Amino acid sequence: MSANPYGFFDDQAREYVITRPDTPLPWLNYLGQDEFFGLCTNTAGGYTFWKDAKLRRLTRYRYNNVPYDLGGRYLYVNDGGTVWNPGWKPVKAKLDRYECRHGLGYTTIAAGKDGLEVTQKMCVPPGENLELWQVTVKNTGNVAKSPKIYSYQEFCFFEALNDMTNYQRTYSIGEVEVEGNAIYHKTEYRERRNHYTLFACTRDISGYDTSRDAFVGIHEGLHEAKVPFSGKAGNSKAFGWNPVGSHEISLHLEPGQEETFAFILAYVDHTLVKFTGEKFTAPYVINKTVGRAIVEKYSKTGAVDKAFADLKGYWDENLSHFQVESPDPHATRMANTWNQYQCMATFNMSRSASMYETGIGRGMGFRDSNQDLLGFVHMIHDRARERILDIAATQLSDGTCYHQYQPLTKKGNAEVGGDFYDDHLWLILSTVSYIKESGDKGILDAPCGYADRKYGSDSEKETLLHHLETSIAYTMRMRGPNGLPLIGHADWNDCLNLNCHSTEPNESFQTAGDVGGSKAESVMIAGLFLYAARELSGLYSFLGREADSDRIAADRKTMLDIVESVAWDGEWYTRAYDSQGKVIGSKANPEGKIFIESQGWAVLGGAGADNGRARQALESVHKHLYTKNGIVLQQPAYSTYHPEYGEVTSYPPGVKENAGIFSHNNTWIHLGWCLLGEGDRALEYYHSICPSNKEEQIETYRSEPYVYAQMTAGKDAPCFGEAKNSWLTGTAAWTFVVVSQGIFGIQPDFAGLKVDPCIPRGWPGFKVVRKFRGATYQIEVRNPKKVSKGVVSVTVDGKVVAGNVLPILPAGTVAKVVVELG
Ligand code: GLC
Ligand code: GLC
Repeated sequence: MSANPYGFFDDQAREYVITRPDTPLPWLNYLGQDEFFGLCTNTAGGYTFWKDAKLRRLTRYRYNNVPYDLGGRYLYVNDGGTVWNPGWKPVKAKLDRYECRHGLGYTTIAAGKDGLEVTQKMCVPPGENLELWQVTVKNTGNVAKSPKIYSYQEFCFFEALNDMTNYQRTYSIGEVEVEGNAIYHKTEYRERRNHYTLFACTRDISGYDTSRDAFVGIHEGLHEAKVPFSGKAGNSKAFGWNPVGSHEISLHLEPGQEETFAFILAYVDHTLVKFTGEKFTAPYVINKTVGRAIVEKYSKTGAVDKAFADLKGYWDENLSHFQVESPDPHATRMANTWNQYQCMATFNMSRSASMYETGIGRGMGFRDSNQDLLGFVHMIHDRARERILDIAATQLSDGTCYHQYQPLTKKGNAEVGGDFYDDHLWLILSTVSYIKESGDKGILDAPCGYADRKYGSDSEKETLLHHLETSIAYTMRMRGPNGLPLIGHADWNDCLNLNCHSTEPNESFQTAGDVGGSKAESVMIAGLFLYAARELSGLYSFLGREADSDRIAADRKTMLDIVESVAWDGEWYTRAYDSQGKVIGSKANPEGKIFIESQGWAVLGGAGADNGRARQALESVHKHLYTKNGIVLQQPAYSTYHPEYGEVTSYPPGVKENAGIFSHNNTWIHLGWCLLGEGDRALEYYHSICPSNKEEQIETYRSEPYVYAQMTAGKDAPCFGEAKNSWLTGTAAWTFVVVSQGIFGIQPDFAGLKVDPCIPRGWPGFKVVRKFRGATYQIEVRNPKKVSKGVVSVTVDGKVVAGNVLPILPAGTVAKVVVELG
């Protein structure tokens, strides 16, 4: 059993099983994979939205609530006057049994009390714009029971920010209709909307409520809601105020008897379906044709079971592209299941909606979404392709990019603007990784325009490849006095704001007034450029365009010489130059002497490869930054605020960018160790931030043990080891790169599948099944000489292959590959 008192991994079922509802923090799962999404915690908390958590929120959620995580997809049980919820909240009655299983795209909560068992199984079926809850109520006692079940959801007026701020309007606009077992939330449908929310039950109901005041009360809380405690639905019709959806189900169950039915929460948008009918069928009566068809579909026997089976098939297929058997249980479990699963969430959500991202603050990030693709391209090529083109279209023709865009409109967010001088380079990484995986070089010719140009105005130039060239040219052009890239509002480290010297508490650190004419430079961007340029040069070479390849390689050489001549501090690479031309991340600084990002990117970009600096830089990371909970971002932490450095110095020592353990950038060092052939170190570092490895210290760690968190408190913080901001972090994609390509060494390449593992010396070997360009490679890696790295022989179906790149095989082929290290 698990060392974690709150739960355990069920690896066979690919579920995390939570055995107590009072987890150290709400432990979250996501429902949905395409366009309809739900956040669902282990107490059934959370909300749903279609495509965009800001602009199409369907159900309400109050962040920063007391208690934490209140409001969600609640079921109330009234069993002979005793009221409880299977998810424990909000009533928090003592349960005889509670279990929550977070699976891939679904969550099952099952609880029992006084001989009654209720199971609530929730998912969003693939391809559908709706959420299902399959509910089973069973009498496990020996007397007949007549329980009542009440569903409860609070509707959101779609635009989430307005919904939670503009009550002078919103309290007067709420409208609903009830037809049979279906509740229609139709606020604003009369004016500018062509969509509504449907909340229906597949079984006959004995009553309903749509007014929160009637169901809960004015002075009551959700834990003492009037209707479930009275056991009598009010059949209330909301007019204004706060519309909710609640069905009353009256059951009669003999001992041993059970009944199963379902609830459907659907987003119905007349512009999405082939609907040609009238908007209204009578004054104020909405046309319910589409909604009725949905209820009918899922009321048919077996329809809900089929939805869950489809979801399972969907995930079996996604995960089948990479599966490993290895001596390390953490790396195996995370790589096979949870890490890939988290990559789907970051691909879909970017940094928009989690327990820590409210869905209204940040949309899709340019830099973030490009990196998220690195962990996603192997799963669903078409979606990766579409995303790359969407992101590229938010770049401006001079090379700068909108830092964020809204998923619904695909338009850049003007408030955050651009001028983060690393953004554009990540597009090269995502594009090249997509081409290596899929072989689809045609994407380079896809027209995608620039955000500041009319589409089609100069169409022959507005291809994706043109964007990549624009990106390289931009960094080469925008350089400072030392020849290093200018940093703009920030580089990857959003909080290194060397050009925005903010002294005014009411402004954003990133966008506060620029200090005019500043020439602050970033070593990290230089390293990223070395990497990106090598990728683009390699791509050109693959396309047979040697002159272009050489041209980009020459730019790279220029940058490499600059890095080696101005950015080496003696034992590590410096981090930046500030607006006054003073160094950051050097022995010369009293605080912030050594930073992680420039070590990672210099090494990955190929700096220090021939002169020993790469190894020395990583050894310095080990000496100054590494801890058992991961690598802190810099040392010593800043003890006071420096306007000239920005937000990084605003955080208390040991958290976030001020010497916190920012898991995302740890992965670049992991890859660095793999590059240098240090497999033992790579795995030790991998373990230091691996959530599955945190179960023994869960009371300190607190966050979900099945997904990465953005940050763990560093050694300067009083809560060293406490994780925060789980789920939406670039760590997901990058760790999948570390484990699948660095440690297990399975690297998609233009001409085939390269195998170049870097493993602990003690490992006898491992096995990987990898689907690549339509063929399946069953790879066995043997390590008889107990080395970390170095492929000495490769056979494919018994035939020796020269080198370590597996050839591209006809689609459908299954090949047996044996790789020997030595
Ligand atoms: C957050 C941001 C990401 C940034 C990182 C470091 O994860 O989403 O864009 O690079 O913080 O500041
Ligand atoms: C990143 C950083 C965070 C900062 C934010 C600003 O998410 O992690 O510390 O406040 O960017 O956008």
